[in-house]
Amino acid sequence: MNLTRRGFLGLLGGAAALAALPACGSGVAVGSTGEVLASAWPLPEPFRVPLPVPPVARPVGTDASGAQLYRVTQRVADAEILPGMRTPILGYDGIFPGPTFETRRGQPVVVRHRNELPVPTVVHLHGGHTPAESDGWPLDLVLPVGDTAGWSHHGMVGDLAAGEREHRYPNDQRAGTLWYHEHRMDFTGPAVYRGLAGFHIVRDDVEDALPLPRDRRELPLMICDRSFAADGSFAYPGLDQGMRTLPGVEDDWMEGVLGDVVLVNGVPWPVHEVDAARYRLRLLNASNARRYRLALTVPGGPDLPMVQIGSDGGLLAAPVEHDAIEISSGERFDVVVDFSLLPVGTEVTMVNGLDAGRAGDVMRFRVVRKATDDSRVPERLAEFEPLVPPPGAPQRVFRFARGGVGDHRGWTINGTSFDPDTSLADIRLGETEVWRFVTDVHHPVHVHLDAFQVLRRNGRDPGEYDAGWKDTVDVRPAEVVDVAVRFSDYAGRFVLHCHNLEHEDMAMMGTVRTV
Ligand code: C2O
Ligand code: CU
Ligand code: CU
Repeated sequence: MNLTRRGFLGLLGGAAALAALPACGSGVAVGSTGEVLASAWPLPEPFRVPLPVPPVARPVGTDASGAQLYRVTQRVADAEILPGMRTPILGYDGIFPGPTFETRRGQPVVVRHRNELPVPTVVHLHGGHTPAESDGWPLDLVLPVGDTAGWSHHGMVGDLAAGEREHRYPNDQRAGTLWYHEHRMDFTGPAVYRGLAGFHIVRDDVEDALPLPRDRRELPLMICDRSFAADGSFAYPGLDQGMRTLPGVEDDWMEGVLGDVVLVNGVPWPVHEVDAARYRLRLLNASNARRYRLALTVPGGPDLPMVQIGSDGGLLAAPVEHDAIEISSGERFDVVVDFSLLPVGTEVTMVNGLDAGRAGDVMRFRVVRKATDDSRVPERLAEFEPLVPPPGAPQRVFRFARGGVGDHRGWTINGTSFDPDTSLADIRLGETEVWRFVTDVHHPVHVHLDAFQVLRRNGRDPGEYDAGWKDTVDVRPAEVVDVAVRFSDYAGRFVLHCHNLEHEDMAMMGTVRTV
């Protein structure tokens, strides 16, 4: 892409005109905003590598307040992602995905992150109801251990830490599938791409009492796309093979970087052997920019339905059956699938209906044995409190669009590039507000601190994938989505942003203050 194209788009203006234009570049993926970066390495055969499940983080003790204490070291490591090849990664504890945190509602944990990477980092717990000082403000940098000098801070406000930082997570929230990932201002996309992401699961008694599939029949699935250079390293625009440099997003790639290899839990197109029984899949789209339309295809038969039991922020009131699930980056869908409907020997392929190429496959399940199963999906899952904005509730509009001027060309919210020092909105804790998200192209909108509920999509009822407590909502081109949001407990400064990470890095983020 070049200035000419941007100028052209700028002249055209108008959400509808923008939405109708295909992206240029090496490839286009239907349904995602972004461009495909082609891998150099001949791509591996799908469905050969067994699905790994990330190890569970172990506490190292308790702190003075009685909270479980964990330590995580962020470091460079080698991973075998493509069979027989080495991929250098940036990893939490040197692995990708990072270790999974298993936590319980109301039981706080403290995670001490140590940065042994060559670049500053910020950790955010996505979906966490977290006080501002632990949330991962994009300028609360943890500087590399032993190399704290020389990192410019753009002259803006943030809390610098030398080498280590503690994050306190109260886990005082509904059970749900959360995830933690890198969040440094301007550098989130390339750092997450290189491996800085992991699961954080909150459980509670309500959920434990339900007869849902559990233990090895409960699988967290982190889905993301990557491209690879000929030497097996991750390819990302402007990323040379050196680990010292972590470039920001190049202007030409501000639409979004799409890989041509789909990884699940860090390996390409894995296969998993399952019992003929129900399984709970915690689906997470951890891609920088790619959206998926996930379906479970069965040779010679109809697709296997996915029964949604939860969304970003925990259990739904009642299950919802889907033939396919559209998931944008940052979103989670908690689903139960019933392999007992199929004969032993059946191969069930999770496909992505939004891509006709290699990114059209995600992973495979092989039904290998009959098994007993006393799990089921109850008709009623959880008490669900609908957020009802009172008459006269504050209303705010956030417009997500291409824009900016001069050096700040990129993506904007209400015409402004991310400014940590200026609040777009001061919100009273405990008050329900109505927020309207308006888009030009695709923007998955994410809000920190508290989950929200979708009230309307384009003036009509919420869409098929909007149920429950959401913290990220897939706003498609030229759409208008209204949500009810209520912040609680923690006064401070938080962000809302587009979860297309290239858009986020290109300034599509806003500061909000809770007061
Ligand atoms: Cu998953 Cu502010 O991000
Ligand atoms: Cu978040
Ligand atoms: Cu966006």
